[in-house]
Amino acid sequence: MITIETAAHSIMERCAILATYSEESTCLTRRFATPAMRKVNDLVSSWMLAAGMVVKVDQVGNLIGRYEGIVNAQRTLLLGSHLDTVRDAGKYDGILGVLLALALVERLHERAERLPFALEVIGFADEEGTRYHTPYLGSEALAGIFNERALKLVDEDGITLADALRTFGGDPEHIAAACRRQDDLLGYCEVHIEQGPILEASNLPVGVVSAITGQSRMQIIFTGQAGHAGTVPMAARHDALCAAASFVLEAESRARAIPEMVATVGKLIVQPGASNVIPGSVTLSLDLRHPDDHIREHVCQQLYAQAQGIGEKRGVTVTWKEYPANPTVHCSEQLTQLLAQAITRENYPVRTIPSGAGHDAAVMAELTTIAMLFVRCRGGISHHPDEAVEVADVAVALRVMEDFLGQLAQNA
Ligand code: HGY
Ligand code: MN
Ligand code: MN
Repeated sequence: MITIETAAHSIMERCAILATYSEESTCLTRRFATPAMRKVNDLVSSWMLAAGMVVKVDQVGNLIGRYEGIVNAQRTLLLGSHLDTVRDAGKYDGILGVLLALALVERLHERAERLPFALEVIGFADEEGTRYHTPYLGSEALAGIFNERALKLVDEDGITLADALRTFGGDPEHIAAACRRQDDLLGYCEVHIEQGPILEASNLPVGVVSAITGQSRMQIIFTGQAGHAGTVPMAARHDALCAAASFVLEAESRARAIPEMVATVGKLIVQPGASNVIPGSVTLSLDLRHPDDHIREHVCQQLYAQAQGIGEKRGVTVTWKEYPANPTVHCSEQLTQLLAQAITRENYPVRTIPSGAGHDAAVMAELTTIAMLFVRCRGGISHHPDEAVEVADVAVALRVMEDFLGQLAQNA
């Protein structure tokens, strides 16, 4: 019999194994539709097959394992998270949720137990947007809201999303076929590390999520005039980097002034990028988030105006490209209540947390009702190789999720 503790240890070991599948030798980076993603899909597929699941990879590269319910089971509960990572990532962001869901099925399979509904465990193909800067490609395809224009996006090597998908074995011409029927769905429940400090500060292993904060992502290009670093007088310059730097600090100070607002410039490319050349152009990413969509949208407009003003003052042109925004999404009270009851039965107080991080669940809410269970992570650190969870907390999350399934089975 696979005990909860054994299953929790196995999840940790598998997270460590999957962390070795990287595009980079010195750190963990696993982007959408790369050979590293292919290898992870293949390995997790083998684990799914061994757990009595039927496995497929859909047109956009999502890995989907299905564990049938009892004969005549009409409904399906979706579980899972994402298998892609950011650059220089930790082992658990996304991956923990997929492997914990798989462990739930493994324990059912070992007991030859069937629920009154089927389970599908999804390893989403692209939650982070690391390669094409549009997050949620996998869950958007499953939810039927994939934007076909994304197929033309080009990565830093000049490869279009469509070509990357073809090389991966996906089917860019038929992504619409990845859309999941919704008439049989009980809901979607995602287990994920908290990626924040609340559970650790509260000394709690798990918590439930109230809402997933909305986000706006932009690409902003400042185009000035490259020139000789030694001969162009300061007053005659149209330095793209100085303009961009001034904007970055404006974005920071505006976000600091608004409670719960966060603004991040995570990527900045300076061209031509030579030490003795005045920067001619700068391309930067801007990530803006706030629980209230109106406030986020208003700050977007203000920062757009601010960027244009900086450009006019410095003789630099500014182009502002906004990717489709994600609104704040609220979790299902009914499903969340089942998670809360399970946590109570584990003799822990229930902590409800708004998620500042985005998750596939935010997109899956287009398809069905959603709930999320957060697992404590050390120091709240994430999107960093120091990301860490305790095996004991993973065991608690497993017990909570088994209780959750049991309640759903009783109510089915
Ligand atoms: O950026 C996020 O919030 C998520 O990790 N993709
Ligand atoms: Mn992430
Ligand atoms: Mn994640």
